[in-house]
Amino acid sequence: MTEQAVSILSYLFVPGDSARKMEKALESGAGALILDLEDAVGPDAKGAARDLVAAFLGKPAPMPRLVRVNALDTGLTEADIAATAGAGPAGYVLPKAEGRDDIEALSRLMDRHGAAAECGVLVIATETVRAVRALLSQDWSHPRLTGMAWGGEDLAADLGASANRGPDGHYHSPFRFARDAMLFAAKSAGVAAIDSVFTDFRDEAGLAAEAETAAGCGFDGKLAIHPAQVAPIHQAFTPTDAQIDWARRVVSAMAQAGDGVARLDGKMLDRPHLKQAQAILKRAEAVDGGRRQDPTARPQRAQP
Ligand code: COA
Ligand code: MG
Repeated sequence: MTEQAVSILSYLFVPGDSARKMEKALESGAGALILDLEDAVGPDAKGAARDLVAAFLGKPAPMPRLVRVNALDTGLTEADIAATAGAGPAGYVLPKAEGRDDIEALSRLMDRHGAAAECGVLVIATETVRAVRALLSQDWSHPRLTGMAWGGEDLAADLGASANRGPDGHYHSPFRFARDAMLFAAKSAGVAAIDSVFTDFRDEAGLAAEAETAAGCGFDGKLAIHPAQVAPIHQAFTPTDAQIDWARRVVSAMAQAGDGVARLDGKMLDRPHLKQAQAILKRAEAVDGGRRQDPTARPQRAQP
């Protein structure tokens, strides 16, 4: 996985037909922007949105910008790419992706329209029943793939489910299953694992809880739909000082022990703890590198 992909903690969706929101997004402090040509843009506004997105990409920005195209079965994807590839997006986001063949099909369209070799692909990989099955049966890795994300809205429609969350706000089990399958597929492909959007953008506590759960399970970042969601997401995905301290002590205790096992605070440590500690330190370093380029980012929390 590229250092760039793991250091991006938040991906802010911005409707591609709103010049105002695209301008506002520049000051959001988001790790990356996803300029949307799909669900946030009505059928009659697609053409104008492509032109707006291409013009916006032509101007400088403090973060990478990706473009979400319309799904491959809409007949709109190629025109989305044709209108924007020359403007040099950092990547494309493919909704309703159902496997590696879809990534390859998108990649061919990108090649045809002159997208750079470094232009990546982030897939939304749980939007159909077929996609979720493919997460478990296929290797999704591809030279252009930089990340995988999940979403429960379109999946609910495809499943015929009337709700994806219960009254307590937690996802029902088929949706947790899809999330988990995506996490395993992303880790197996060695790309960033991105948690879904939290649509109730006024509920900061709910967002923070969901983001912390995702970070604790191994996700690398989270999708956002509103600038106010960026700071709570960054906080949830940034290792705390206490975690960093623990990780440093584990690395040093394991180095001193020399053989496979060590003791720390009365607990046994072995290889999995060392791997966990190294991952925390790597993430802390990646996040810190990202923060140096991001003057609006909040300071780190002092305690877990
Ligand atoms: N990106 C950039 N700026 C945004 C933004 C976003 N995603 N969402 C809101 N803003 C801006 C608004 O323009 C507003 O600034 P302004 O008053 O100076 O114009 C400010 O942030 C506060 O917005 P607020 O009034 O709280 O929300 P809203 O009612 O304007 O917008 C949504 C609410 C949900 C419509 C909006 O957040 C949005 O468009 N989100 C992205 C939707 C999307 O792309 N969905 C597809 C993926 S699921
Ligand atoms: Mg959708």
